[in-house]
Amino acid sequence: METKIFKPAEVAAAAAEIKRGNLVAFPTETVYGLGADATNVAAVEKVYAAKGRPSDNPLIVHVADEATVKKYAQPLPAPVQKLMDTFWPGPLTIILPLQEGALAPQVTGGLNTAAFRNPDQPATIELIKEAGVPLVGPSANTSGKPSPTLAEHVYHDLHGKIAGILDAGPTNFGVESTVIDMSTERPAILRPGAVTRAAIEQVIGPVDDQLHHVSQQEVPKAPGMKYTHYSPAADVQIVDPGTDWEAVIAWCQKQAAQIGILATENIIKRYKWPENVVTYSLGTNVKTASHGLFAGLRTFDLDDSFATILVQGFTTTGLGEAYMNRLTKAAGQHHFGGAATD
Ligand code: TXA
Ligand code: MG
Repeated sequence: METKIFKPAEVAAAAAEIKRGNLVAFPTETVYGLGADATNVAAVEKVYAAKGRPSDNPLIVHVADEATVKKYAQPLPAPVQKLMDTFWPGPLTIILPLQEGALAPQVTGGLNTAAFRNPDQPATIELIKEAGVPLVGPSANTSGKPSPTLAEHVYHDLHGKIAGILDAGPTNFGVESTVIDMSTERPAILRPGAVTRAAIEQVIGPVDDQLHHVSQQEVPKAPGMKYTHYSPAADVQIVDPGTDWEAVIAWCQKQAAQIGILATENIIKRYKWPENVVTYSLGTNVKTASHGLFAGLRTFDLDDSFATILVQGFTTTGLGEAYMNRLTKAAGQHHFGGAATD
């Protein structure tokens, strides 16, 4: 299958592919998604096949407006309405109880809830409106690769397997949306993202942190399952805040293999790096670092010669929580100076 590249002006042609039950990757403000008609079971099944993703992992339903959510979900309680009013369109995915049988089990993983998201990307809102149906959209990467922040990343992973890619250039945030479960008695954040816990709590009051409970229980039980999702082939290590970069350089000098370093511009410029080190700039702060993390990991991952990738860590406040969540998945809990480098 030839994978066509659609520009935003060609959104009608992209929508025609969706209506035919084909797959079209679409841009969002976070990462590129792999789009299919959420009401067409055969199309949804193609998404799992193209990604190589386990089919019990539920998908996000991308909508152009709140009215579509009301068509599928149970009546919206006041806090849900407040979240939508405040953060939509934007990087907040909301899990809601469904009307019985409203969406296929292939979309929800057999749950009686679904995840809804209204992306802040005009070309994709147009695509959803033109197609006339909500779109399922997991990140448009091969399972196990970092989420794509450029159309080129999608092409690299999925060309020949999908009908097209709607290319609107680089995404804005670079980490996937915050996922909040509003189907339970107490709201809980399942995945941190650009909409921070603090911002959410300002609108609806305290939310649980299921993420931390889950990871504390699951790390000893199934670290492989939990941490392979974003993992490059190279050994990825976190350089924690406060680490002496002179020690990093001294360690690099002792290695025979090539080493990739992802760090902010000021750190890259401050030191003279050994011959075997290639640096990749994460910009100036945690916002630019979140934007560049997946692209940087991919750059080194495409080249087999990098045995190790060292990535600057940030404190876990604000957007730092989402950044460190993704980095920890890629690094599998390897910290520079920890067991991995001793
Ligand atoms: O930013 C994003 O959210 C991107 C863009 C493309 O929109 N999408 C994305 O989708 O990251 P995906 O499929 O890679 O991640 C969706 C997450 C998964 O962890 C999935 O398990 C969870 O949301 N999820 C979806 N429906 C759920 C449900 N009903 N209950 C609990 N978790 C759910
Ligand atoms: Mg994903």
